[in-house]
Amino acid sequence: LRQSFSTIDVDVASNGVAVLTIDRPQALNALNSKVMSEIVSACLYLDRNHATAKVIIITGSGDKAFAAGADIKELASVSYADAYHGSMLNGWETLRSVRKPLIAAVNGYALGGGCELAMMCDIILASERAQFGQPEITLGVIPGMGGTQRLPRAVGRSRAMELILTGDFIKAEEAVRIGLASRAVPHDQLMEEAHKVAAKIATHSVPAVAKAKECVAVSQEVSLGEGLRFEKREFWSCFALEDQKEGMAAFVQKRPPVWSHK
Ligand code: HXC
Repeated sequence: LRQSFSTIDVDVASNGVAVLTIDRPQALNALNSKVMSEIVSACLYLDRNHATAKVIIITGSGDKAFAAGADIKELASVSYADAYHGSMLNGWETLRSVRKPLIAAVNGYALGGGCELAMMCDIILASERAQFGQPEITLGVIPGMGGTQRLPRAVGRSRAMELILTGDFIKAEEAVRIGLASRAVPHDQLMEEAHKVAAKIATHSVPAVAKAKECVAVSQEVSLGEGLRFEKREFWSCFALEDQKEGMAAFVQKRPPVWSHK
């Protein structure tokens, strides 16, 4: 698997935790088109073809950055025709089809596309050194990987507007306070904490985890009534899972469940 990629590193441990590391530290893990397509391909591969991988952690290599954004040097000469006909950034849409949970372990700058990549993940854990921002406006453009849509859903319109219109960065603590990140942890404990969360999730029933993730994702898109109906159908469908029978039997018999993941 590792050999298939040149700009990211992918490692899958036997406990079901996969780690995808963006590996361009010299450019602060800026997302050029190769990095972007490798992240998407690796996630789709781990999601669909890799039974061992149950949770995917995304992080950046080096001490400074998760990802400092799309690669500005690559974008500088793009024309409107290239962007439009080349469907620039459309590849990220497919990341939404990933059923396994994605955890962003934000180890430093998460700016522009880097912040947007973190927001595509299901849980954001931040190092105390992390900084988040949408500085596209300072480059004469706007966010293009979901920032104007996911940030207001995460932190509310006024705060999102302020960040997107000023281009200012915020620190980890502030990101947690406003609900962008779930937790901030000491820098040298970030991966350990991310592994703990991922490993815990990986002990649960794979289809139940996928259903829970999908329901929460749907809550960001639809009305309350529609979301509640969606949840109810997914909840009812849990009773067609072997894992529901096993999970409840295990509780009643006071023993740990042994999932078949079916
Ligand atoms: C390309 C980048 C880069 C980026 C940093 N580098 N960010 N290269 N694209 N987004 C490169 C620098 O050019 C430099 O390379 C090296 O990484 C180290 O960066 P420095 O700037 O020297 O580091 P420092 O002074 O510590 O400043 C860190 C920083 C700054 C504050 C994060 O690098 C910065 O502001 N980066 C750009 C952040 C940004 O605007 N992101 C949004 C991008 S637009 P050399 O070779 O010079 O040493 C975007 C749009 C997404 O993401 C969706 C639509 C496409």
